[in-house]
Parts: sequence; C-alpha cells; structure tokens
Amino acid sequence: MQVIESIEEMQALAMSFRFEGKLIGLVPTMGCLHEGHISLIKKARESADKVIVSIFVNPTQFAPNEDYGDYPRTLEADLEQCKKYGVDIVFTPSKEAMFPEGFSSYIIEESVGSGLCGISRPNHFKGVTTVCLKLFNLARPDFSYFGQKDAQQCAVLKKVVKDLNVPTEIVICDTIRESDGLALSSRNRYLSKLQREDALYISKALFKAKEMAQNGVSSPDRIIAEITHIMGLKRRIRIIYIQVVDKDSMEPVRKIDPEQTIVSLAVWIDNIRLIDNIAL
Ligand code: PAJ
Repeated sequence: MQVIESIEEMQALAMSFRFEGKLIGLVPTMGCLHEGHISLIKKARESADKVIVSIFVNPTQFAPNEDYGDYPRTLEADLEQCKKYGVDIVFTPSKEAMFPEGFSSYIIEESVGSGLCGISRPNHFKGVTTVCLKLFNLARPDFSYFGQKDAQQCAVLKKVVKDLNVPTEIVICDTIRESDGLALSSRNRYLSKLQREDALYISKALFKAKEMAQNGVSSPDRIIAEITHIMGLKRRIRIIYIQVVDKDSMEPVRKIDPEQTIVSLAVWIDNIRLIDNIAL
C-alpha cells in the first residue's frame, strides 16, 4: 500500500493506471474510518483493479461555527484499516495543497442541494462538490463510492457528475448500522452514553416509518407525524428537519413510491448534529 500526499504524484499515478487499462475505484473520506467506510472499500475492491482511498478533512464543507478543528483525526489507525482491506493507494493531501491561498473556483449545484441540509448548512454542499470534483480530477476514478447514509450528498454528486459530464460512475452503498440500529458515523464518538441512548430513537423512528409504508400507509404527513412523535419521547433530540423526499431530486413527495422515496432527517442530540434516512 502506498501513501501519497502530493497532488502531482497522485495525478501522475492515476494517469499511469489509466494508461495501463486498470479500473480505478475511489473512496473519498474524511478519515476516522469505521465499518461504514470499510463497506465502501470492500465494494470498491470487488470491481476496481486499483482502490484509492482519500483521507482529507475538507475545510470548505464546514461552516465557521462547525467542528472542523475538532473533527476526529486518526491517521495511523486509518492506514492500518486501509492496509487490512487491501487498499492500493491512500491519498492524504494537505489543506494547503488542496486549497492554497487565493483558491476561488467552486462547483455549485443549485437544485438538489438547496433543501434539507442545504438550508441549515448553506455552503456545505458547495464544499463537498468542489472537493469531490478535485478528487475526481486527481484520482481519475472509473467508479466513485459513496454511502447512502449521506443521501443528499449522493444525490448532489450524482447530479454534478451528470450535469458536468464527469467521467466517473457514482456507486451508492447501503448504510451500515450498529446492531442496535444506530447508523455509523464519525461523529458518533462525540456521543456520551446517555446521548447515544437517545440517538437510538432516530433509527427506531425510521424503522417504524418503513414498517408503516410497508403496511400501506401512503401519506408522507402521517409518517412524518409518527417519526416526530417517537423522537419527541427523548428530550435530548431536537429536530432540524424530517422530510419524505424523492431520492434523486430531494424534492418532497405527496405520495410514496417504494422505488424512489426516502425519509430523510437531521437532528441535534444536544450539540451533536446527526443525519439519517431510510428507503420506504
Ligand atoms: P465521511 O463522513 O468521512 O464519509 C465518507 C463516505 O463514507 C461517504 O460517502 C459517507 O456517506 C460514507 N459513510 C459514512 N457513514 C456511513 C455508513 N454508516 N454506512 C455507509 N456509508 C457511510 O462524506 C464525507 O466524508 C465527505 O463529505 C466527503 C465525501 C469525503 C467529501 O469531503
């Protein structure tokens, strides 16, 4: 396994892989790897000849009041994990190399990213799309792997790749959960025991929503009301949004389509922001 910090070296190596006809799989991450990330790596390992994992805590997707400075950084352990799961290249560029002083070119997707998390985190997706486009240009992936856990991020990136004819296929992988239902997230490590107990009501509420839809409930309002009720039982949970949306457009729907509809939500558990979603 090779660890590459230089963006020039990364791009040159990716070009040489392409020249040799190797299929490249890219797994973009911000590190602090957990089973969710590992599932993307395993998926990449199945179809790509060369698996590249990028580890970069992207400053441009955090607002000034968010946790960029405190975001967990566990490079040594991450490298161990990457080695264990057969990653070929770990790309760890510096902030200065990715966003040097004077950087001024951003990718802005104006529709899919505007609702839901786009409302409470107005510049977040602009940071995500920009860093991902840079990573696509550097790693030249045939396939790029993302987790359904971040449903809106997946939808926004699919749209950007389509609109801008980026030659990579976005592969979306299922959300990995703890055995009790909590979706894995690097931010879970901020949760105290009591906060974690309350956070379980997020997946509990989402599982109930799925069950309702499977039992024939077709009204988004009833599903939203039930989720609100279940999460309302826990006093640390503050709802930011709960919406029943189309998984590609992220627009609210009036009727559930089992192929397309998801419930997506964001909450605060005290001061920790968590998101989750489920297909109905
Ligand atoms: P990060 O939060 O590190 O997540 C990296 C990838 O892992 C994302 O595609 C995310 O959806 C996926 N992931 C996280 N938790 C998961 C889970 N429980 N199950 C399945 N997949 C999961 O998302 C980002 O980083 C950044 O925004 C990034 C795309 C790297 C751009 O900076």
